[in-house]
Amino acid sequence: MAKEKVIAVAGKGGTGKTTFTALLLRYLTNRYRDKAILAVDADANANLNEALGLEVEETISMALDDIKDPRRVPSGMTKDIFMEMRISQAMVESDQIDLLVMGNPEGPGCYCYPNDLLRKYLEQLRVNYDFVAVDNEAGMEHLSRRIINNVDYIIITSDATARGLRSAGRAYNIIKTLKINAGKIFLVVTKTPNGEISALEDEIEKTGLELLGTVPADDMVVEFDLNDRPLFQLPDDSPAVQAVAAIAQKLQL
Ligand SMILES: Nc1ncnc2c1ncn2[C@@H]1O[C@H](COP(=O)(O)OP(=O)(O)OP(=O)(O)O)[C@@H](O)[C@H]1O
Ligand SMILES: [Mg+2]
Repeated sequence: MAKEKVIAVAGKGGTGKTTFTALLLRYLTNRYRDKAILAVDADANANLNEALGLEVEETISMALDDIKDPRRVPSGMTKDIFMEMRISQAMVESDQIDLLVMGNPEGPGCYCYPNDLLRKYLEQLRVNYDFVAVDNEAGMEHLSRRIINNVDYIIITSDATARGLRSAGRAYNIIKTLKINAGKIFLVVTKTPNGEISALEDEIEKTGLELLGTVPADDMVVEFDLNDRPLFQLPDDSPAVQAVAAIAQKLQL
């Protein structure tokens, strides 16, 4: 079986990470009806599920909190087995996409042990999939703890402003210091007015990132978000849908 392709999306708050991830997943499910796809919401303030139109009851954090308290591990069960059971309970299965939501780590104390378990578990899990797409939070918690290591592509999103691009450049520098094993790191400029970015060429250059593509400001995205409709259901003629499809094709996904 071919090795799974892992794509992580990172970037400043509100730059369109979740929108991009949802539309990437939309592209992959439409193109490959028979491939296994895992979506990971690594944002503590999780909302990828809403963009996908999926209900979530359990998160990884809830499972990790249980592991931390030995009284909650049933007697006769090892912590590892209990963890595996709890994490599989947190998996939301839909037609084509399985979704894991990291959730919000609660309470004080060290998460080293559960993090190590989670890392190990994800390593085992990912090989069951053809594609894994990870929607990260602006703070890049999970990237920095290297819960998800060995990614093929990291996509840093920036809105179409000079300030946004400088922030993307800083995110890139942080990611480089994390020593994540990433195949390639790209820039995607989002919410561009009519796809126009020529005024930003200098700033793009200064980020040191390779520009993979742009996602135009799309009224349909705004309208769907306004009416609380899953972005996953955007029509084929949405400019954002088409732009993300072109980006996915560029990556040969
Ligand atoms: N291509 C687009 N066209 C128009 N609006 C967009 C586009 N992409 C994102 N938006 C809007 O920008 C806002 C932020 O988008 P999104 O939630 O995808 O960003 P994010 O980076 O995931 O944010 P957060 O850091 O809060 O998780 C939303 O209101 C969304 O509707
Ligand atoms: Mg988001």
